[in-house]
Amino acid sequence: MSDRYAVIGNPVAHSKSPWIHAEFARATGQYIEYGRIEAPLGAFARTVAAYRAAGGRGCNVTLPFKSEAFALATAPTPRARAARAANTLRFDSEDAGSAVAADNTDGVGLVNDLERNLSRPIAGRRVLLMGAGGAAQGVLRPLLEAHPAALAIANRTAARARELAARFPGSRGGGFDELAGEAFDIVINATSAGLTGEAAPLPEGVFAPGALAYDMVYGRDTLFLAAARAAGIATADGLGMLVEQAAESFFFWRGVRPETGAVLAALRADR
Ligand code: ATR
Repeated sequence: MSDRYAVIGNPVAHSKSPWIHAEFARATGQYIEYGRIEAPLGAFARTVAAYRAAGGRGCNVTLPFKSEAFALATAPTPRARAARAANTLRFDSEDAGSAVAADNTDGVGLVNDLERNLSRPIAGRRVLLMGAGGAAQGVLRPLLEAHPAALAIANRTAARARELAARFPGSRGGGFDELAGEAFDIVINATSAGLTGEAAPLPEGVFAPGALAYDMVYGRDTLFLAAARAAGIATADGLGMLVEQAAESFFFWRGVRPETGAVLAALRADR
């Protein structure tokens, strides 16, 4: 019988994860089935418990439940602990009292997309991370582990960026105005700005020659990417990060690492 997995979120109807994991399973010869479960707001833990009791072996967790997923974990990985959020849970037993292993694969997914798919090594490069919310927090540890020359966090609310940087030695945080006169090789948008109609206020000259502008959002051309493109800067959206985080989750569950190239190419062609 196939082992059961699912993505749990709210909303979850448009998630590409079921398709991605079905492709990974086919390519690696793993017998799994992968569904989607919409948990009511305020009922995440109950939804997970019921799913596990019914034989679920693990799940991906998406917005807005990643912090709650981390709170359920009894055995989080160091990168989940650093993020204080989990996007992957694994149940090694149906017994409600047994361990819940948790990982956060978002950051390693971002790093792998930048370095492998986009050929943008992070080591020795200057990286700017825009935003200081959950999305930024989720990727900081893997970004730092890739040894950038500098990692600056800029946020509309400067204090929030400073607080986040204090938790991640090797990074620094502040407001966008504090970036004046500095240029970065990789500029990553982890804000929700641009989805709601406003762009984050990037100072002139923030892009170094040959820089990459990366948006963690996919499927929408954000104002950030549009502005970078208008300035002649190379751009990438978060579709590759989505596929790479899924591959790491698959590995966390199955101990097998799927190839991502064909899946990413198929998703890009589908748009
Ligand atoms: P997420 O989990 O998606 O990161 P979040 O924790 O609510 O969501 O954080 C949203 C991020 O987008 C924050 O960094 C927020 O900046 P503030 O901390 O100043 O609120 C940022 N953000 C949202 N709208 C923005 C806008 N119009 N301009 C600049 N930054 C914005």
